[in-house]
Amino acid sequence: MNVPYFDLSRQHQKFITQAQGAFDRILKSGAYILGPALKDLEAEFASYIGTRYALGVGSGTDALIFALRALDIKKGDEVIVPSFTFTATVLAVLHVGATPVFADVDAASFNLDPESARQALSRKTRAILPVHLFGQCADMTVLMAIAKKKKLKVVEDACQAHGALWNKVMAGAFGNAGCFSFYPTKNLGGMGDGGMITTSDEKILRRATQYRNLGKGIDDPFIHDEIGWTSRLDSIQAAFLSIKLKFLDELNRERRAVAELYHKKLAGTPLDLPRETAQAYHVYHLYVIRVPDGKRDALKEHLAASGIPTMIHYATPVHAQPIMKKHKTRKVKLPVTEKLREEVLTLPLFPGMTEPEVDAVATSIKQFFGSSYVKTRA
Ligand SMILES: Cc1ncc(COP(=O)(O)O)c(C=O)c1O
Repeated sequence: MNVPYFDLSRQHQKFITQAQGAFDRILKSGAYILGPALKDLEAEFASYIGTRYALGVGSGTDALIFALRALDIKKGDEVIVPSFTFTATVLAVLHVGATPVFADVDAASFNLDPESARQALSRKTRAILPVHLFGQCADMTVLMAIAKKKKLKVVEDACQAHGALWNKVMAGAFGNAGCFSFYPTKNLGGMGDGGMITTSDEKILRRATQYRNLGKGIDDPFIHDEIGWTSRLDSIQAAFLSIKLKFLDELNRERRAVAELYHKKLAGTPLDLPRETAQAYHVYHLYVIRVPDGKRDALKEHLAASGIPTMIHYATPVHAQPIMKKHKTRKVKLPVTEKLREEVLTLPLFPGMTEPEVDAVATSIKQFFGSSYVKTRA
């Protein structure tokens, strides 16, 4: 059986007529940029996340850049980041001219290890940039305590974590700012690129409002007192996302149900399955397993041969990306990151994935391990 890696059409079936109605409405309105549809989405998203404000921008990467810049993070400042993340997290730090300092992640949650973050601190540290990777929040209790003690800013990369909770608080509501991506396959994905900043700080809101709109003055748009970008979230995207936001919790529950099926069907294999930390509500942006004993690539090939595509997030951690050779960085020891890059494998998971599809993946994995698939590792 061929199993798709991802299928957007299944989740969009739920509201296709509403979406078509919204396109019609925007088309006729002529308000394509910075119109009421964007204002509505911003209010709805802020209310969903639990921050005072939300600001729609062109992408998750831009959200991160604008948040860091609004906090005056600049050349000479250090920002603590996990190396085990999507490169865009770190691109944002480089774009504002600051120095990324790479810390290690926790082996069970794949998220920034607070102890490693503590080791990475220096006199130049100005901010921590935790990533809520694969749909699960980083340990925001300890990271926020470190930030408070050391008077650091916190920008959350919540690009993979729409609707994820830590101690019942939404990802994106902890730090000075939260940053989201609306790339189509994200938990809340649009029909193109888009992003959002969440914050309760009016100064961040005002500055980011200028950055997204060519640095135009908020009170007088003909006065430019910032060097801005053209990075606004289009009305058509906003209208689509407003509709989809109403289904986000349901879509996340579907992702969790698929993850639960995988947990059950893969129990007893030598794989290390994703774990939900006690304080977390995991929204399974990705279902990432660890394949021990150097068998990851062979398992990937075996699954591909049975019609099951998989991906690797992330085989090249950011500290090892070629771009880092050209930039000043610092890192502490990254043993977990180095191990994960050899072991991780992402299985297909998407809202609407069926039990027979999950079965096909699990059966193929069990075939690969043969009769010796009794778990041997803790
Ligand atoms: C962890 C993380 N950070 C940042 C981004 C950047 O978002 P975008 O692609 O919308 O710029 C993404 C997604 O692509 C991501 O997964």
